[in-house]
Parts: sequence; C-alpha cells; structure tokens
Amino acid sequence: MFDALHHTPEVAAYLGAELDPLADAPDFDHLVEIGCGSGLHLDWAVERGLHYDGLDLVAQLVDEGRARLAELARPHDHARHRRFHLGSAEDLGTLWSAAGLEGRHHGAILAFPFNCAGSLAHPETALGAAARTQARIYISVFAASRPATACRLAYYARCGYAALATTDTEHGVLVTSLEGLRSFAYHERHLVELLARSSYVLERRSELAGVGVGLLFAPASG
Ligand SMILES: C[S@@+](CC[C@H](N)C(=O)[O-])C[C@H]1O[C@@H](n2cnc3c(N)ncnc32)[C@H](O)[C@@H]1O
Repeated sequence: MFDALHHTPEVAAYLGAELDPLADAPDFDHLVEIGCGSGLHLDWAVERGLHYDGLDLVAQLVDEGRARLAELARPHDHARHRRFHLGSAEDLGTLWSAAGLEGRHHGAILAFPFNCAGSLAHPETALGAAARTQARIYISVFAASRPATACRLAYYARCGYAALATTDTEHGVLVTSLEGLRSFAYHERHLVELLARSSYVLERRSELAGVGVGLLFAPASG
C-alpha cells in the first residue's frame, strides 16, 4: 500500500500534502507516526529536525524503517531521538511509557497518516489510547465523498485487491476486498465524536488535494 508504484496521481498528491497543515504548528518538535510502515513521513521529520517515533504492526516494515534511520542520519542529529516500534496503536499507552515519552506530550503530535485510522481494527481503543497521552492528534483520512471513493477504488485496485465492494455506513464509506481489505473513509463527524469522548476538540481542518482531509485535535483543557 505504501509502494509509490501503486499510488495514482491523486493519491500521490494527497500524500505529498498530508503533513502541510502541521508545518507551522506551534511548539512542535516531535512527530509520532502511527501506522508508519517503514517511515512514511520519516524524511519529513528529519528535514525539519524533529524527534520521530514510528509505530507499526508489521515487523518487516519496522525493520525496513530501522535500516533507513542509519541512511538518513545527518550531522547534529545526535540531539534528536528517532526510533521505530513494533506494536499496535491500541496498545500505545505501553509504548508511550516504555519509550519514556511521559511528560513530552506538549511538543509531540501523534499522526495517523494515509487513512490509517480507517484501517484500525479497534479505532475507539486506539484513539482513546492516543488521547491518554494528552498530545495533539492529527488524523489524515480519505474523504467520504464520491470522487474520493472513486480515487480510493482506483488505488486499491492498483495495490492488487480484487472484488472491491463499497458500502455506505453510518460512520463512513467502507471498502472491502476478496483478500480481506477492510478500510473505512470515516465521516469527519464520527472522528470528532470519538475524540470528544476523550475531551479532545477539533482545532484545525484542512482539505488535502481534493481527496483527503487532515484533522488536528487537541485536549479541550489546552
Ligand atoms: C497507513 S495505513 C494505510 C491504509 C490505506 N492507505 C487505506 O486506505 O486503508 C496502513 C498501515 O497501518 C498499519 N496498521 C494498521 N493497523 C494498525 C494498528 N492497529 N497499529 C499499528 N499499525 C497499524 C499497517 O501495518 C500499515 O502499515
């Protein structure tokens, strides 16, 4: 799914724009990328001199990410920590304490890139765990509009998924495939409701290349 060869021009434009809304976020020095693959936005973080933690379920992708860390290292980077973690978003709390990240939430943004939120098995659990860190949360998702759904279908077909089917549900547009793909493009209101349960509010909403939406949430208490 991360292979650029599978990305239609629309998906490539979406991914290229997806972190633009964070470029001027105040007090931001640490990107925590959840569902990062081998480091979807690691280069972006390195270019900006940010700390980086990447989390993914798939061991091979995490290993590839770790190998890329050595390649990307720059002079003065020793002052930045950059790491990959194998694990699930639902269990983010364990990672947060094991990695010594408590107390670092002010500078951190937890990013769920590339519609990762739509492919989580237990989104309520994962978003609840993210909110318990008290860091800002950025969720980039495919839009639930018809043109965006058409773009998704073209992209999933290029990834090799067969018998793609689309279902409109209360919470968003679900795409499934013969191989077991099960990916939602959640309605924004659903994500806003899920985060409101943890007393998070939507701070900023950005259109991403006509097919995606970037939603930046923060704890209501500031
Ligand atoms: C970035 S998302 C891409 C989703 C895809 N573009 C779509 O439209 O459904 C996929 C990545 O998230 C990871 N992932 C899925 N569920 C996860 C979870 N619960 N915890 C951590 N990573 C997860 C996968 O291993 C994969 O690398």
